[in-house]
Amino acid sequence: MEVVPSKTNSSTTEAIPMNGGDGRNSYANNSSLQRFLVDRSRSMIDEAIANYLDIQICPSSETFRIADFGCSVGPNTFIAMHNIVEAIHLKYRDESGSTPEFHVYFNDHTSNDFNTLFVSLPPEKPYFAAGVPGSFHTRLFPKATLHIAHSSTSLHWLSQVPKEVSDINSPAYNRGRIHYTDAKHQVFEAYSAQFAKDIESFLHARAEEVVCGGLVIITLPANPDDAPPSELRTESLFDILGSCLMDMAKTVRAQFTHFLLVCFRWEEFVLLNA
Ligand SMILES: C[S@@+](CC[C@H](N)C(=O)[O-])C[C@H]1O[C@@H](n2cnc3c(N)ncnc32)[C@H](O)[C@@H]1O
Repeated sequence: MEVVPSKTNSSTTEAIPMNGGDGRNSYANNSSLQRFLVDRSRSMIDEAIANYLDIQICPSSETFRIADFGCSVGPNTFIAMHNIVEAIHLKYRDESGSTPEFHVYFNDHTSNDFNTLFVSLPPEKPYFAAGVPGSFHTRLFPKATLHIAHSSTSLHWLSQVPKEVSDINSPAYNRGRIHYTDAKHQVFEAYSAQFAKDIESFLHARAEEVVCGGLVIITLPANPDDAPPSELRTESLFDILGSCLMDMAKTVRAQFTHFLLVCFRWEEFVLLNA
């Protein structure tokens, strides 16, 4: 038997997770934009399940398996999973009279706050729950075991910053900035190429894991083809955010230099007074 475990390599670097817990600055309390997308996509997902899901892929005596890739800590993932289970339930009720049991797998990076996720699971959830840590750019499930793979506002996360954008000798060098707004076309191309690689590895992995006839449901922010990046509102937000991060990094660097100076003088002081 060939076992393909998930691997972490240079192209699947672990990212910094969303803010855990349920405090003022937590993701749980600062994700209304992502919630908006879950709500807005609901009718399209309901329609896809009603029209394209073939319930023959899972007889009602078996377990229907759904995975949410890039779930973070909730509550959006719970709402998305609840909506999907409800739509499948209606489909089975109408077409076969009985419904299978559901197993939902919550996936995110290993450093995600899974404790908060499990503590806040809705008590009346209509499914069994499990956590699956690891990068969704790798295989995370055995072959042909999932009936639905879902991901909402997560796939635009790149597995790594394209090397060229931080290489001062590259034509795609982005001068320390974190985004491609108003940057040279080489910068835009470097980010696009990284996204193409990442989405390909995501789809390859899911192609192995999802049963034939299952569904892959992806919601992610995108730009219209004809809109220049500089004219998009989200792009200018990233630009502002990027310049704040750069200022913060400069401040930390300045404080660190000060700290080194103090250490040096202290050492000098100790030597002089020895
Ligand atoms: C903006 S949050 C979206 C969370 C949730 N789906 C929602 O709608 O609120 C993006 C999540 O994707 C996760 N993520 C990013 N890259 C990932 C990867 N390669 N593998 C697993 N999770 C990843 C992040 O850790 C983060 O929790």
